[in-house]
Amino acid sequence: MEKFIINGGKKLKGTIEVRGAKNDALVILASALLTSKPVYINRVPDIEDIKRMSELMDKLGVKVKRLSYEKYKIVANKIKSTIIDREIAKRLRASILLTAPLLARMGRVDFPHPGGCVIGERPIDVFLDGYRALGANVEYKDGVYSVSAKKLKGTKFVFGSVSVTGTEAMIMAASSAEGTTILKNCACEPEVESLADFLNNCGAKISGAGTPKIIVRGIKNLNGGDHTTIPDRIEAGSFLILGAVSGSSLKVNKCEPEHLDSLLNVLEKSGAKIKVNKSSIEVSSSGLRSVNIKTKEYPGFPTDLQAPLCVLLTQAEGQALVHETIYEGRLSWTEELKRMGASILSLDPHRIEIKGPTTLRGREIESPDIRAGMAYIVAALCAEGESIINNVYQIDRGYEKIEKRLQKIGADIKRV
Ligand code: EPU
Repeated sequence: MEKFIINGGKKLKGTIEVRGAKNDALVILASALLTSKPVYINRVPDIEDIKRMSELMDKLGVKVKRLSYEKYKIVANKIKSTIIDREIAKRLRASILLTAPLLARMGRVDFPHPGGCVIGERPIDVFLDGYRALGANVEYKDGVYSVSAKKLKGTKFVFGSVSVTGTEAMIMAASSAEGTTILKNCACEPEVESLADFLNNCGAKISGAGTPKIIVRGIKNLNGGDHTTIPDRIEAGSFLILGAVSGSSLKVNKCEPEHLDSLLNVLEKSGAKIKVNKSSIEVSSSGLRSVNIKTKEYPGFPTDLQAPLCVLLTQAEGQALVHETIYEGRLSWTEELKRMGASILSLDPHRIEIKGPTTLRGREIESPDIRAGMAYIVAALCAEGESIINNVYQIDRGYEKIEKRLQKIGADIKRV
């Protein structure tokens, strides 16, 4: 089992580049099943979740070829199975994204409850309700959902919960349904808009993506297409937080500042100095103040940045309330942060209070999920002494060769 060994306390300096967004690349990969024509995806990050998704698609008979380091070609002209592999799906929540194009193209899909990060209850009711609204029949037996429909039919559907992958799934399913689908209470995340842009380039008729109301006019045959993944806003945000909390001077390059407004707001309130350029952001700081945060759907403060921001709050002057509104299990990682020396009071599963600044001390830690894993790296880089982070698979799921990229800006981190 690989681990990271980190010696904290060093000032970092220089430029770090952001990779393509994991959650954009994953949905575009899945959407390639909607067409029998080739799909090309540029700027795909070299991360474990992409490998798992490729393996899942391979088992369905889809040809996924890595043409060069960052470029993939996908051809789904002969789908040979509609059963999503149980073992891989257990490791990847995004496996649920494959259900929509399989249902739309093949009229059937069988799949287990998806796994992925253990951050709280992650139901799939909105997917099932959505497919039913499009005319599908849903059955559940021995741990397998079977969804089938001779033909999907356009409908009006209001999401019971605002769901990113749920919105993406309904866009995909509706894009080849008969007639028009009106979706309300949709997620507005940039990854949703990016998916709609890609599908529209392939001939789909989707309007309103990026707003709560999306209209999809179903079409018969979707073409292939070419897509460049949007920059990973969560990776960019994590690097900005790292720069601010470690009192370093960093430039985060190849990012989309527009997608980071809520974080930039919080960082500025905390006293960090931010300079926004067209596709890069510079950060530096000397002395941070506490800021209350509440995670929200986009354009609110992203739940995926809650963990690294908590690390920043341990180094900020004053008391901050962190309210995680999306997942009830996404604050439990802070127990280890407390053992590193943070002063954190748990109020309930959704809320903690952090008092700062406190000195963090290096420890041996287990990475529980992608984002908490990144937060432990940030904490270890700010801590006194050595930290060991085990279970780095969780970090490799979402961040490409993170140790190599951090070494380039002066971090003392190695993989053993
Ligand atoms: N929800 C339901 N029913 C559903 C689906 C969701 O009640 O059928 C609830 C969830 O329990 C949660 C809320 O809706 O409280 C939001 O969940 P959402 O469905 O939006 O999450 P997701 O689509 O499964 C995506 C990202 C996550 C990110 C969330 C929130 C992908 C592949 N995953 O998950 O990313 O945290 O949106 O922004 O796009 C990560 O990258 O580390 C990650 C966990």
